[in-house]
Amino acid sequence: MFNDISPAPADPILGLTEAFKADTNPNKINLGVGVYKDASGATPILSCVKKAEATLLETEKTKGYLPINGSAGYAKGVQGLLFGADSGLVAVGRVATAHTPGGTGGLRVGAEFLKKFRPDAKIWMSNPTWANHKGVFGSAGLELASYPYYCAETRGLDFEAMLAALKAVPAGDIVLLHVTCHNPTGVDPTVEQWQQIAEVAGEAGWLPFFDFAYQGFGVSVEEDRKPLELFAAKGLEFVVASSCSKNFGLYNERVGGFSLVGHSAEAVSAAFSHVKSVIRTNYSNPASHGGAIVDTILASAELTQEWLGELAEMRDRIKAMRGVLVAGLQQRGVDMDFGFIERQNGMFSFSGLSDEAVATLQADQAIYIVKGGRINVAGITPGNADYLCDAIAGVLK
Ligand code: LMR
Repeated sequence: MFNDISPAPADPILGLTEAFKADTNPNKINLGVGVYKDASGATPILSCVKKAEATLLETEKTKGYLPINGSAGYAKGVQGLLFGADSGLVAVGRVATAHTPGGTGGLRVGAEFLKKFRPDAKIWMSNPTWANHKGVFGSAGLELASYPYYCAETRGLDFEAMLAALKAVPAGDIVLLHVTCHNPTGVDPTVEQWQQIAEVAGEAGWLPFFDFAYQGFGVSVEEDRKPLELFAAKGLEFVVASSCSKNFGLYNERVGGFSLVGHSAEAVSAAFSHVKSVIRTNYSNPASHGGAIVDTILASAELTQEWLGELAEMRDRIKAMRGVLVAGLQQRGVDMDFGFIERQNGMFSFSGLSDEAVATLQADQAIYIVKGGRINVAGITPGNADYLCDAIAGVLK
């Protein structure tokens, strides 16, 4: 059965982590996978998470199954993050949320649900997009298409081309939009541009599918969700795959969600019953612990405050490292202006490094960067910044 199978290619992001772990160079730096690191290079457990876990250890009474869509408390917490605690949309039952294994699980559940009801729909993705999007949507059987997004010349958004392409997307197709902290570029539309995108969505009649993996890493929890509020205010249908894995530092607990926004509570309830069938036939129901942590934190005003403080600390450290990288390259006399790195949002920076430069940095200096030049800025620390800047300046000379 298995003798003639040739190996699959390594994953472009997680495969780098495997290679990094096997590297014996003591100076090695992993700027690949989107995982936060503190100034010492560790991925810490947030203090609010530790406190929530202590409470759970005391209060948890059973390891019985969760419902197919996960706990109601977690769903309520996610809806509060996406739309605000006193959202009218939530109050009238126009949103239903399932706890999924990470944001990726949310994408896949959504993809299979949509394939069932829109078998001929294409999904339009930004060029470029997260390396795994094509795999997730493609393996659910959806046809893939792309719209222009990043302009290599200006190192910003090619908004005109993006909007023109979105106007031409047929009604009934699906458009994948990164809510904030675009992965891999770090380049986001402005609020005014989001407003225009929402207008186009309403006029053209395509379904927005939001990927919201980095809430709170842009400006703040509230500011980062603005695009969703704009689409909600227009009364549009849309779906959201979101993640609490990054902003709560719960990577290995796989804490995500799939939320469906419909025109009425009745429509949402019927559609969501099929989301539950998709989940039941995939993984039956979610693991409980990660969602229970988030629920415990968001249900406590004190722990929520602590979480927001810790999230701000992560966001601020990443921003500071953007500055350190730009200044470090300038000091080393690099010709290219890297100022754009400070204008990008979230964990990632599209560094502008060529694939050759990326390969050389890995082979010669044990610096791991995703092909295409995406850097996880959170992987830069005061301890490795000089080594990194020397190495990048070296490949650019
Ligand atoms: C990333 O883009 O690095 C993260 O979303 C982690 C992953 O699964 O690829």
